[in-house]
Amino acid sequence: AAAEKGGYATFMEKEIHEQPHAVADTLLGRTDADGNLTLDELHVSEDELRAVTKIVIVACGTAAYAGTVAKYALERWTRIPVEVELAHEFRYRDPVIDEHTLVVSISQSGETMDTLMAVRHAKELGARTVSICNTHGSTIPRESDAVLYTHAGPEIAVASTKAFLAQITASYILGLYLASLRGSMAASGTDPAEVMAELREVPAKIEKLLGSMDRVKEIAYYMADSRSVLFLGRHVGYPVAMEGALKLKELAYIHAEGFAAGELKHGPIALIEPGQPVFVIVPSPDSEHGLHGKVVSNIQEIRARGARTLVIAEEGDEDVVPFADVVIRVPRTPALLAPLLTVVPLQIFALQLSTAKGLDVDQPRNLAKSVTVE
Ligand code: G6P
Repeated sequence: AAAEKGGYATFMEKEIHEQPHAVADTLLGRTDADGNLTLDELHVSEDELRAVTKIVIVACGTAAYAGTVAKYALERWTRIPVEVELAHEFRYRDPVIDEHTLVVSISQSGETMDTLMAVRHAKELGARTVSICNTHGSTIPRESDAVLYTHAGPEIAVASTKAFLAQITASYILGLYLASLRGSMAASGTDPAEVMAELREVPAKIEKLLGSMDRVKEIAYYMADSRSVLFLGRHVGYPVAMEGALKLKELAYIHAEGFAAGELKHGPIALIEPGQPVFVIVPSPDSEHGLHGKVVSNIQEIRARGARTLVIAEEGDEDVVPFADVVIRVPRTPALLAPLLTVVPLQIFALQLSTAKGLDVDQPRNLAKSVTVE
């Protein structure tokens, strides 16, 4: 068993360290000799894809947070409206879907019953269905019109890590492909090839980040008795906050919640009392619309009320320092790609806290790797 884990104590730890490969392998073979994006496994016609008027992403758990990250990028690049919905909610609410809707399911296993039922329902309503999946030949891709495989390799630990990064990567490739078909990126002053080049730099950045996690491990150990941990993020950092909270619930059985940082003043700030640990995922100082400054103000507000602030910020971002109890640095990267980095410390934190509590990291109580019942 030790050999299977490649020298790591748990599958989860091994899989976290496989993330640079999961992203790199998912990016492999997506461009032809002329540098154009190609998706061999996408058998929906180009005309059908040009006619798409709405994208609906359906998924559960971690895959749904990957979908929420993807929404920001897909809308930006394709200018097609994107909805993200939990598969079990989508199925039973009479969704407005037609043949110009592209329903994108995201599933590591390809066997999640809730997601499968959503895909079947979408097909009945006439939608085109694309599956983003990590498991060759599994049910969801077989029943979809098209599939874009993530190449994360088998994921054994119940809590998803490398599949999440691969899912974001694959949905970005899909978005860039649609954007090149539709010529929709010109307005944003960038092009698909440029983003692909930036994506190819991400695996090395994850590698670097993984080498600097000692401080995160240390704080996880002395936070093992925490009763509640909050996570704040904005823009693509918002779904990362949700995923960070999910990891902590799943692995360490600690009450955890992720919030949109902008929502803080509309409610969650009432939860802040002295000593309350709060992770904050800070947008890059280069972010548009002054989002960086807005989140820095949020940190200041919660710190003034006694929160213990654990701040995930880009290298070189000095604005956060005065208000942070702990600063966790991530390499610089374009705003939309940041989730591929900012989630990593949160995975490590949950893993270490679970370990510190002596819990079963790979098989948390009450959970299954793949839920094949509705
Ligand atoms: C289960 C797992 C989660 C996973 C979710 C979706 O609940 O415990 O880790 O995110 O299913 O799984 P899928 O295979 O569809 O990505």
